Amino acid sequence: MMSVIFHEKSKVFHLTNSYVSYIIRIMENGQLENLYYGKAVHDSENFDRLHEEGWRSQAAVCMPDPSELSMHYTRQEYPVYGTGDFKSPACTIRQENGSRIVDFKYVSHEISDGKPVLEGLPATYVESDGEAQTLSVRLHDSLMNTDLYLYYTLYRDYPVITRHAQFVHAGDDSIFLERAMSAGVEFLDMKYDLLQLSGAWGRERYPKRRRLEMGLQGIQGLAGTTAGAEQNPFVALLRPDATEDFGEVYGFSLVYSGNFLANVEVSTFDMTRLSIGINPENFAWKLEKGQSFTTPEVVMVYSDSGLGGMSRTYHRLYRSRLIRGIWRDKARPILLNNWEGTYFDFNEEIILKMAREAKEVGVELFVLDDGWFGKRDDDRRGLGDWFCNLDKIPSGIDGLSRKVEEIGLKFGLWVELEMINEDSDLYRAHPDWLIQAPGRNRCQTRHQYVLDYSRKEVVDHIYGMMYELLRKSKISYIKWDMNRYMTEPFSAALPADRQGEMMHRYILGVYSLYERLTSEFPEILFESCASGGARFDPGMLYYAPQTWCSDDSDANERLKIQYGTSVVYPISSIGAHVSAVPNHQVMRKTPLHTRASVAYFGTFGYELVLGKLSDFELSQVRQQIDFMKRHRELIQIDGDFYRISSPFEHNETGWMTVSQDRKSALALYAQTLNKVNASWVRFKLKGLDPDTKYRVRYEIVEEPRDFFIYGMGPTEGKVETREFLAYGDELMNIGIVVDRIDFFKLGGDFAAFLYEIDAI
Ligand code: GLA
Repeated sequence: MMSVIFHEKSKVFHLTNSYVSYIIRIMENGQLENLYYGKAVHDSENFDRLHEEGWRSQAAVCMPDPSELSMHYTRQEYPVYGTGDFKSPACTIRQENGSRIVDFKYVSHEISDGKPVLEGLPATYVESDGEAQTLSVRLHDSLMNTDLYLYYTLYRDYPVITRHAQFVHAGDDSIFLERAMSAGVEFLDMKYDLLQLSGAWGRERYPKRRRLEMGLQGIQGLAGTTAGAEQNPFVALLRPDATEDFGEVYGFSLVYSGNFLANVEVSTFDMTRLSIGINPENFAWKLEKGQSFTTPEVVMVYSDSGLGGMSRTYHRLYRSRLIRGIWRDKARPILLNNWEGTYFDFNEEIILKMAREAKEVGVELFVLDDGWFGKRDDDRRGLGDWFCNLDKIPSGIDGLSRKVEEIGLKFGLWVELEMINEDSDLYRAHPDWLIQAPGRNRCQTRHQYVLDYSRKEVVDHIYGMMYELLRKSKISYIKWDMNRYMTEPFSAALPADRQGEMMHRYILGVYSLYERLTSEFPEILFESCASGGARFDPGMLYYAPQTWCSDDSDANERLKIQYGTSVVYPISSIGAHVSAVPNHQVMRKTPLHTRASVAYFGTFGYELVLGKLSDFELSQVRQQIDFMKRHRELIQIDGDFYRISSPFEHNETGWMTVSQDRKSALALYAQTLNKVNASWVRFKLKGLDPDTKYRVRYEIVEEPRDFFIYGMGPTEGKVETREFLAYGDELMNIGIVVDRIDFFKLGGDFAAFLYEIDAI
């Protein structure tokens, strides 16, 4: 069931499917009021009773007697400042005379099947019109002669409403959008917690939860080209009693990769106003007669089954209706990336040796990371010169890619297309192509600058270089990196009154290049990346179905990073590799079995020199690759992901993925530090069918040891396979008994169990 209903008499819209209801009313002053957002309710001819209005001291009443309608006390769809509401607005528009007073009134609306495309912007989509219905409401400000369209798309099969706004200007005088949020929702009360994903390089997307309080709270990204590692463009409001599995949660995920703001303001009357969209800081978009502006899309998810329910909705939707292209429904190749193995220190011989070793163990794709182009022997030079360094690779990328294919692997390449080093041919030819403000110092990060992607000629030039490279060579995969934030935002190509458009134009430029490359080379798998996981956002997923999750490849750190990332993003999008020990970021030694067990819950690959591994390790790697080949459809395409035990709260992390038919599952139970003589633990699973009998298999992998322990002798390494049968209800309600001695055998600290669960 799905419908967008309009009640002509009471002027009420009701968007409802089996999961959610969203109720809006056209008020007496022509503006839109939000009456309800939450669990689905029956429809009614009239919802007037939900409107709250009455005398209040200091109220700025916008309608004459006997009305007491005052915007400050009214839950609005798209509030503005200056007409009686004293809280954060959804939009601010400066007019020629300097006034910022606006008044958008309802004109008309349209209800249509399907979902419109947001031109130039990434967004969720439908494959057939029956999957969704869209309401667009047209409002008009007659003084400016500007239309405001508010779009609402309701999906049939998900508790999802997507929203965006569009301004179409017809007035003779230009206007400036100084704030144009994608959407706002007002909640009746303030009994919510605010959840966000915050972090930094090496510790991206840690969930943070706090109680709402009267006044402002929220998060923002100002790093320019990305949400940055600091704040992800996502927030959720949770009822204080909501947990992983129970309670009400409202998620807001912005499909955007530039500066954003998620703002929550609680009034002293306990009303909670949430808005999300492009960050108004450093933003002002000029609209001349006939021009329009479209905001990015926000995807709103409602869950009455806790945070886990919300996450699974995002996972399904993003996996099937945000990610596009042939890789959407395909298991991802198992790769070997040379970065942590060699850094810049490689040549053609070394690369081909690594590729042969990779082929030997079953790897499918070899990825050549940074250092293959221009004069790139370190991170001080070469960015912008996207042609091969023939001193390092005499066969060129075309020759090398063919040689790698002859070995029997696909070939992939690292690029950082938005960047430029001063020491590069590109800079020498176009010193004015980077982002810089006249007369001001230019900040560097990693010795590099950002190209001005708000300029079409810059994007065209980079496209030309990439087109040549991709056309000539056999390239199956591209890792598109972006290793610095933006400073001194200013474009030499924009007039003074359009400088406020630069940062948004930049990201539109990035999207346009992605669009051109992915449509020209649809078979190439793109992975986005930014100093590890600093650009993990839905905007990127629209073009690149996977994202390098973090430069921190330590398995124990990854438990936290991948756990937090899974709050919004499907695990099929999480770039995860097995790297060497001691780990290059934290110097930690974790068992190889644990490293693989954590990386399975992602795209899976290796980032080390296989030639340096022992025979025992190599035999393990072979088995791990076989294992992933057997399970990747479940992990990446079919499975529903359940978080069970949080690494932020416990020594043990638990999570699992369960097939749609609940016939197979894979569960991870990993510990941080080992405990001596401690109590027994039970690992309770989720999502299984209680009445199905399952076979549970797991391996105890003991790494070689040359010393005696009381009761245990040395070993050259051994693998013991165990299995037992149990019903789903036992596994979920009683749990798997985890033997502490097995933790010991699995390596003690950082040991992990991996359970394969199949219906019999
Ligand atoms: C970034 C990426 C790494 C690697 C390096 C290369 O830091 O996150 O994976 O590609 O750049 O310079």
